[in-house]
Amino acid sequence: MNNSFRLGILGSGKGSNFVALTEACASGKIPARVALVLSDVEGAGILAQARDRKMAAQYIPPGKFRTKLDEDAEQAFVSALREARVDLVVLAGFMRVLKGDFLRAFEGRIVNIHPSLLPSFPGLAAWKQALDHGVKVTGCTVHFVDAGVDAGPIIGQQTVPVLDNDTPDSLIQRIHGAEHELYPRCVAAIARRETSVVGRRVIWKS
Ligand code: GRF
Repeated sequence: MNNSFRLGILGSGKGSNFVALTEACASGKIPARVALVLSDVEGAGILAQARDRKMAAQYIPPGKFRTKLDEDAEQAFVSALREARVDLVVLAGFMRVLKGDFLRAFEGRIVNIHPSLLPSFPGLAAWKQALDHGVKVTGCTVHFVDAGVDAGPIIGQQTVPVLDNDTPDSLIQRIHGAEHELYPRCVAAIARRETSVVGRRVIWKS
């Protein structure tokens, strides 16, 4: 199995996408290995999930801001990812916006998953935005990260229906199910170097 492609996974929450990605690496569906897991939240489930699996996992204090990393924290994240020789930075529920130096350090090599069909419903609680808007179909999007919020070139999307009796909870559960299929598929394609970016479009070579 070729698993020389190295993933650095960043998350602030439960880590269910991390688990899906890890399992896909272990089964060979993604030809890569998880080199490092980082979080800005000391008690985040994603760190516990990684440590349970004996993976390198580290909490890095985010600094003084609420929605982004401060300069020292940004440097610490970038250094840790460089030391771990990470090829792709995978955001899996990382709740801070990445800025200049971080984006420059890993230009074109950062991906994110968002729980809506972008460009609809960027930002927080996207499933709730979808319910409030009354859409009949929503889903999830994997995209490259650029300086915008939930704005970079789209790698893949998966739809889920919105049912008449959905609550925010039932809808996000369904979206999570789709995320756990879509994210491994997209990361596998990148690790196999089967994608290329042409302007805003991500082309999948067959
Ligand atoms: C996912 O819904 C993802 O779309 C969003 O954050 C959530 C992370 O969930 N960016 P988990 O920590 O992977 O369970």
